[in-house]
Amino acid sequence: MARIKPQTLLQQSKRKKGPTRISVTTIIICNLIVVLVVLSLVATYRHWSRRSMNVADSVSQNFEDSEAFSDAKKYDLPGFAILNTSKGYITVELFKEGSPEIVDKFLDFCQKGHFNNMHFQHVIKHFVIHGGDSQGFGAPEDWTQKGKPHGHLSPKHEAFMLGTSKSKEDKKGFDIFITTAPIQDLSDKLTVFGRVVRGEDVVQEIEEVDTDEHYKPKSSILIKNVTLKRVV
Ligand SMILES: *[C@@H]1O[C@H](CO)[C@@H](O)[C@H](O)[C@H]1NC(C)=O
Ligand SMILES: *[C@@H]1O[C@H](CO)[C@@H](O)[C@H](O)[C@H]1NC(C)=O
Repeated sequence: MARIKPQTLLQQSKRKKGPTRISVTTIIICNLIVVLVVLSLVATYRHWSRRSMNVADSVSQNFEDSEAFSDAKKYDLPGFAILNTSKGYITVELFKEGSPEIVDKFLDFCQKGHFNNMHFQHVIKHFVIHGGDSQGFGAPEDWTQKGKPHGHLSPKHEAFMLGTSKSKEDKKGFDIFITTAPIQDLSDKLTVFGRVVRGEDVVQEIEEVDTDEHYKPKSSILIKNVTLKRVV
């Protein structure tokens, strides 16, 4: 008996160590795990992309679901905003990669309905139109007395750029500017975070309205609301 036992044990342990059986089982288990992980990733992705699509479409009406919005945003930020103005639609592309923080902030303000019924407070022909409260605008002379642009301008200095005033970046408001001409020292004044891709004619129509001596339009022009889109 005492002699048989160790032999049996030896045989058993040899059988257990048999390399093919163990590795086949391991391979099957590993494959199962990989399949499960992939399936759950696909499910998660579908869940979030569906969710962010819904959010993007209804963002200006759906203010309560803010947590879902900020989560969904991380996965799929809307890249375009359509400003519904009293003169027509202006579609802007948001520079999600170039100015991620300010685009984030803009989207948050859209979600809060900040731009609903926002007036264009200043219109300066061949320079800029400005929506929001007056402080961000500064002195109109800053805009008008800089003279004509000259020399090479970077793409950021082209017309139809969308920006917000630098001075108010960390305060409560969010005003918006759309340039209507290349402005030499634009980046001194504004954080550019997008550009007009459709509705340049609407911008120009706004530019043509009559203004008083403070560049305030005589008839009110406003942004009724903003719709966010992932594609246009
Ligand atoms: C924008 O506002 C108008 C009325 O002011 C409303 O009819 C429209 O549904 C709103 N659009 C969005 C996307 O909220
Ligand atoms: C734009 O505003 C007008 C007038 O308030 C409204 O009738 C229209 O539904 C709005 N469009 C969108 C897409 O919200």
